[in-house]
Amino acid sequence: MTEDDLDRMADLLGDPEVMAFYPAPKSRTETAEWLAGMQKRYREHGHGLWIIETHAGAFVGDCGLTWQSVNGDPVLEVGYHVSRSMQRQGYATEAARACVELVAREFAPTLLTAIIHPANDASRGVAENIGMTHIDDDHAHPWIVRTVMGMQVSPA
Ligand SMILES: CC(C)(COP(=O)(O)OP(=O)(O)OC[C@H]1O[C@@H](n2cnc3c(N)ncnc32)[C@H](O)[C@@H]1OP(=O)(O)O)[C@@H](O)C(=O)NCCC(=O)NCCS
Repeated sequence: MTEDDLDRMADLLGDPEVMAFYPAPKSRTETAEWLAGMQKRYREHGHGLWIIETHAGAFVGDCGLTWQSVNGDPVLEVGYHVSRSMQRQGYATEAARACVELVAREFAPTLLTAIIHPANDASRGVAENIGMTHIDDDHAHPWIVRTVMGMQVSPA
């Protein structure tokens, strides 16, 4: 992700349907700050959310690896957002599988998680497609108990 991706990321993260399980869609300014934060993650951790494109170069969304927290403990998470017009075609599953392969090559052995709003069936479907099961619940926020899907990834 670079500054050149701001337009398409602002469209994606500004879509109320894509952001239905977040506190609110992001404005263009908020997306620019979020994108700068992602570049900081690349520099500091060597990973973050990356752009998903088709082989023909059409924008699909983002997917990748970030450090998150479950009940105060750091965990590696695979995350994903797919544009409304590109959903339900297997793109998030394909991208998340590629992330699992990367984790197996570069970061394993490790726990890999997906931390999900309990009503987000699509996100849970992706997690189940890549072999995750419900391993925990995150109680760190007073207003929501999030479902923690996870799997142990062994070295490739
Ligand atoms: C979650 C999301 C990335 C899935 O992207 P996608 O490319 O449509 O996912 P896939 O096509 O790989 O579908 C994966 C599975 O999810 C389930 N699924 C997908 N969309 C669904 C929906 N609208 N309702 C219920 N289940 C759904 C299905 O089980 C599907 O597997 P199947 O097609 O083999 O049955 C997409 O819905 C999205 O961007 N949602 C908004 C952002 C978001 O909530 N991200 C996750 C934050 S934790």
